[in-house]
Amino acid sequence: MQSLTKGTKLVVASHNPGKVWEINQLLAPYGLNAVSAGELGLSEPEETETTFQGNARLKAIAAAAGSGLPALADDSGLEVDCLDGAPGVYSARWAGPGKDFSVAMKKVADEITTRGGWGEPPKANFISVLCLAWPDGDTRIFEGKVFGHLVWPPRGGNGFGYDPMFVPEGAEQTFGEMEPAEKYAISHRTRAFAVFKASTLEHLQPVNVDERPARGRDIAALSAAAASLSTKLEAAAFVTHLKADLKANRPEWVNVTLEDYLDALELQLKDAPASEEPAWRQLAKALLAASVKNR
Ligand code: IMP
Repeated sequence: MQSLTKGTKLVVASHNPGKVWEINQLLAPYGLNAVSAGELGLSEPEETETTFQGNARLKAIAAAAGSGLPALADDSGLEVDCLDGAPGVYSARWAGPGKDFSVAMKKVADEITTRGGWGEPPKANFISVLCLAWPDGDTRIFEGKVFGHLVWPPRGGNGFGYDPMFVPEGAEQTFGEMEPAEKYAISHRTRAFAVFKASTLEHLQPVNVDERPARGRDIAALSAAAASLSTKLEAAAFVTHLKADLKANRPEWVNVTLEDYLDALELQLKDAPASEEPAWRQLAKALLAASVKNR
């Protein structure tokens, strides 16, 4: 297997801004230069496999072949014991064409009810499978899981997807109620990445966090949050982050007065194409768009 060195350009084989942001956070300290498949204009292959490994491999191989660069793909999902592992590889699809996870969570809760599975807290786990592929077709797989149980109704406005109904082992809060850093410390993706790091990045010295250049306004993090939220509580948490961003980065906001902000919001809403996305996500995107330069 070839190795990754400082400055290597690596494609993150995803069009999901939340995932790209999370993987970038993990790669940045190692001096790897990550670009997303979306930025390179690569098309997203259909996830036709029936396993996480198969889908991660398929996405990584397509991105490596399409770009001529090494590519890292992630396939992840929620597995519920009493549903025989469902929704599993179909975790994203249970949210329907609008990717509405309030719908997907309700579906999971209803299926558990049908199976009489709420007697004991239903056991579940998140799983993340990473695949690193090279343009010559060489691949390696890394896996991470976090175990816990589900609750209903969902709780908390942080995170995304099924976070508000998942309580990790040893905790009382759902992933949706935890601070992002708390979830991040134990998440399935972090664990899969730890395996990837141990075997692939061990020769690279991580940059001391304090020596990393100070980062300005983190638009990518805000965009990722806006693009992946589904519920009212997640929209409320997004507004909290937007307020913090205004406080910290006021000079970078294009529309600082309420009048300018409302003008921009009006234009943004008039121009927005019809969308199947959850209304809370559309609202968050509109709010964010009113505070950044037109691009
Ligand atoms: P895929 O990996 O893009 O096929 O999508 C996996 C789906 O699993 C996501 O759309 C989420 O709904 C769900 N999922 C994966 N990781 C997480 C997580 O950390 N929290 C909540 N849901 C997740």
